[in-house]
Amino acid sequence: MSTGELRRVAVIGAGNMGHQISLCCVLAGLETACVDVSEEQLQKAEAFMKKYLPERVAKGRLSEESAQEAARLLRFTADLEAGAREADFVIEAVTEKLSLKKDLFRRLDQICPPQTVLATNSSFFVSSLLAGETGRPERVCNMHFFNPALVMKCVEVVKGPHTAAGTADLAIRLAQKMGKKPVLLHKEIYGFLVNRILRRIMDEALYLLDTGVASAEDIDSAVVNALGHPMGPFTLMDLTGIDLSYHVAMERYRESGDPAQKPSPTVVEKYARGEWGRKKGRGFYTYEEK
Ligand SMILES: NC(=O)c1ccc[n+]([C@@H]2O[C@H](COP(=O)([O-])OP(=O)(O)OC[C@H]3O[C@@H](n4cnc5c(N)ncnc54)[C@H](O)[C@@H]3O)[C@@H](O)[C@H]2O)c1
Repeated sequence: MSTGELRRVAVIGAGNMGHQISLCCVLAGLETACVDVSEEQLQKAEAFMKKYLPERVAKGRLSEESAQEAARLLRFTADLEAGAREADFVIEAVTEKLSLKKDLFRRLDQICPPQTVLATNSSFFVSSLLAGETGRPERVCNMHFFNPALVMKCVEVVKGPHTAAGTADLAIRLAQKMGKKPVLLHKEIYGFLVNRILRRIMDEALYLLDTGVASAEDIDSAVVNALGHPMGPFTLMDLTGIDLSYHVAMERYRESGDPAQKPSPTVVEKYARGEWGRKKGRGFYTYEEK
C-alpha cells in the first residue's frame, strides 16, 4: 500500500498518547477514529481537540480551513468495531499491559481488513509479543511516538523478525506524512533506542534522589542547565506518567528476574499512592487543575 492509498487510521486508546496521535493523523489529512473504552477519556480527548485547533489558528500555525478539515476527519468512539473495521492502519495506544494488548490485537485481527497494518505504540513491548495473536504477523510492527505526540518529532519504527519490509516502510512514510522524523530499528530490542539511553539517566536520577544526594528539583535543574535537556528527569516522569515508569520497571524485572531492575522505592511509593504525575495532579511536583 502506498501512503497515498492510506486514508483511514484507527487510534486505539484516547489517553496521554492516543488523543494527540489522533490529532497528528487528522492534521496529516487522514480520516481517523479515536477509540477508547472510557467515555470520560473520549470526552476529554474531544474537549482537547476543540481547544487545540482554534489555539493553533489563533497563533497563525494553522489555517481556519485546515482546522475545520481536521475536526471533520476526527471521530471519537467507544465502539472498537465501528472505529477499526475500515482502517488501513491501526495505531494501538492502550494501557501498557501485555494481556490487554494481546486481546486487542486478536480482536483487531478479526475486525480489520486483511491488508490493514497493526502497529503498537507500546514503550516496552516489542511487536513479536503481539504478532502471534494475529493471522497477519508480517503486517505488525512497533510505531513508537514520544510525549507530547503533537510536539515530538521522533517516531521509532521497529521491524520485528515477522515484520515485512513494506510494513515498516509504510509506518515510516506515515510518520513522515505527519511531519515526524522517524527512525528505523532493524531489530527488536527492549526499550528501543531512545528509552534505553533515557533509562540510564532516569535510573541515576532516582538513585541520587533515593540516596538523599539531592532533591528532585535540583536534579532537574542540573540536567536542564548543565546538560541542556529541555526538561529534567522528574518533570519528564510526571509528564509521561509514574504509573508507566512503574509498569515498565516491573516488566523489566519479570523479564530478567534481576532484582536490580525493580522500580525504585520512590516510584513504588508514588505508584501505590496514586501520585502518577500530571494526569493525577500530583507526582514529583504538584499541578493545579487546568
Ligand atoms: N505516556 C507516554 O509518555 C508514552 C510515550 C510513548 C508510548 N507510550 C505508550 O502508549 C500507550 C498508552 O500510554 P498512555 O500514556 O497514553 O496511557 P493512558 O493511561 O494515558 O491511556 C491509555 C488509554 O487506553 C484506554 N484503554 C484501555 N483498554 C482499552 C481497550 N481495550 N480499548 C480501548 N481503549 C482502552 C484507557 O481507557 C486509557 O484512556 C502505552 O503502551 C505506553 O507504553 C506512552
